[in-house]
Amino acid sequence: MKYINFNHVAEGYDTTRFVPQTIVENFGNLIFSHLETEFDEPPYRILSLGIGSGRVESFLSSEKNHLFGIDISELMLREYKKKTSEHQGFLSLADGCSLPLRPFFHIVTAIHIVHLISRTQKLVEELEKIAKTIVIGDIYTDTYSHPLYQEYSTEIAKSEWKRESSGISIEEFTNIFKEKGYGIMQKEMSAPAEISNHAIYDSLRSRSFSSLWSIPDDYHERALKHLEKYIESTGMKLESNFSTTSFLSLYFIDSRK
Ligand SMILES: C[S@@+](CC[C@H](N)C(=O)[O-])C[C@H]1O[C@@H](n2cnc3c(N)ncnc32)[C@H](O)[C@@H]1O
Repeated sequence: MKYINFNHVAEGYDTTRFVPQTIVENFGNLIFSHLETEFDEPPYRILSLGIGSGRVESFLSSEKNHLFGIDISELMLREYKKKTSEHQGFLSLADGCSLPLRPFFHIVTAIHIVHLISRTQKLVEELEKIAKTIVIGDIYTDTYSHPLYQEYSTEIAKSEWKRESSGISIEEFTNIFKEKGYGIMQKEMSAPAEISNHAIYDSLRSRSFSSLWSIPDDYHERALKHLEKYIESTGMKLESNFSTTSFLSLYFIDSRK
């Protein structure tokens, strides 16, 4: 069985996948307004599958609501535990395709994870069992439009390397539920964000994004040399900020149509 483990990028994860607070707050508001509409009173039991460092999902935990998070990465969970919070929730090292939990959740979230899991059918079965509402989606800052990222990608595209994807896209995943008769509601928002050129350069150098992990070393080194020349020839200041956009794109998948 193939797992995509985030242990080696755990330490810098929240920095390289930074999203502004307004996106995080909106995420919480959308989840709680759905829960309040569907169920009477808190406490709500929320399961986050692939909770990672708790970058966004940790904010769902409170005195009123019980958050359970599972992940296969010990070091991502360690990063989560470093966040000092009064209501940390309950964390467990476990596989989302084989949940060690009874189905007693009001809602399950799976943010930035379905594309990493090759056992799609098993994941669908587990999600269906565990809660009435499933929330999948992406919460991210656009770094792809940064000139360094663009230059790096163009350089890699000149090689024969092609990325192998393990799981399926969010749209394909959502369609599985649509065909089963689930109701689907999409929620989107965006907000301006600033990232330093240096942070993007560092993310590329350390291949912190999972889309870059399997690039062969020699192609990666060649692309980095190209970036050095690009920075020198354009006079790009690495300490300056790049203005971009952060996005939240969620699908609420509900068994009550
Ligand atoms: C891209 S990160 C997203 C983390 C978090 N949801 C967020 O948005 O910041 C994906 C997470 O899923 C975890 N993961 C991958 N496969 C998993 C599986 N089969 N079961 C549970 N977690 C898994 C990884 O270890 C990683 O922490």
